[in-house]
Amino acid sequence: MSASNGQEFNTFGFQPGRRLVGKYVVGELLGKGWEGEVYHVTEAATGVERAAKFFFPERNPRDKTITFYAKKLNKLRSCPMIIQYHTQESLWYRGHRIPFLVSEYVQGELLSELLKRQRGKRLHHFEAMKLLHELAVGVAQIHKLGEYHGDLHDDNVIVERVGLGYELKLVDLYYWGRRTQEHVIDDVCALIRMFYDSVGGARMYPTQPPEVKAICCGLKRSLIEKKFRTAAHLRDYLESFKWS
Ligand SMILES: Nc1ncnc2c1ncn2[C@@H]1O[C@H](COP(=O)(O)OP(=O)(O)OP(=O)(O)O)[C@@H](O)[C@H]1O
Ligand SMILES: [Mg+2]
Repeated sequence: MSASNGQEFNTFGFQPGRRLVGKYVVGELLGKGWEGEVYHVTEAATGVERAAKFFFPERNPRDKTITFYAKKLNKLRSCPMIIQYHTQESLWYRGHRIPFLVSEYVQGELLSELLKRQRGKRLHHFEAMKLLHELAVGVAQIHKLGEYHGDLHDDNVIVERVGLGYELKLVDLYYWGRRTQEHVIDDVCALIRMFYDSVGGARMYPTQPPEVKAICCGLKRSLIEKKFRTAAHLRDYLESFKWS
């Protein structure tokens, strides 16, 4: 990736122990994606752990990406499934001002990693339904506040198994413009796609029980939309459908 002055930005390569803006001590690299890199950082003054997302300049023209992300996180601050936004800072890196977003640090693993660890790389459909229900509860709260996630997939869900359920956090919300019904359906389809993948994807689909197929609707958007207009409909369906 080249920055506006032609320099390459594939990584910021912050080394553990380095102090940033006099305030944060860099820990490990938590993740790296299309938009930038996320590091575990510790606030030097308090020892409080945080996550800091540094945006590649090309993915953040005029700070639009970081600003929309911060505003969305703040608007959704009452949703327990959304990471808590703390602040925005910036530093100079190779002649570029690089803004970074400081948020709550979430312990746990990515849903994609949890699935890879499972026997057969999949969950039993009953457990996958429980996970889908918990996700639908969280996403329904986002929809109720007039927002949408915009980039739901198993690398943007941080999971910790607790008792019979999960503690879930969603990261990496994306702004595609003001919310429309299309954005809501995109989220619902993405939830169902995660469920479909978590029970074994295309390989296992033909032999799934009817209850699983009734949720997945063959991943056909028009059928999903007819059945579940919002995440709340999906949530309610999961709470009351009849087993054969
Ligand atoms: N608050 C957080 N606490 C712990 N880990 C986090 C946190 N935020 C992000 N991560 C980790 O960093 C990874 C990358 O973060 P994020 O998804 O926000 O950026 P991205 O992947 O660059 O964006 P995109 O998905 O658009 O490419 C996540 O998949 C997750 O593993
Ligand atoms: Mg991501």
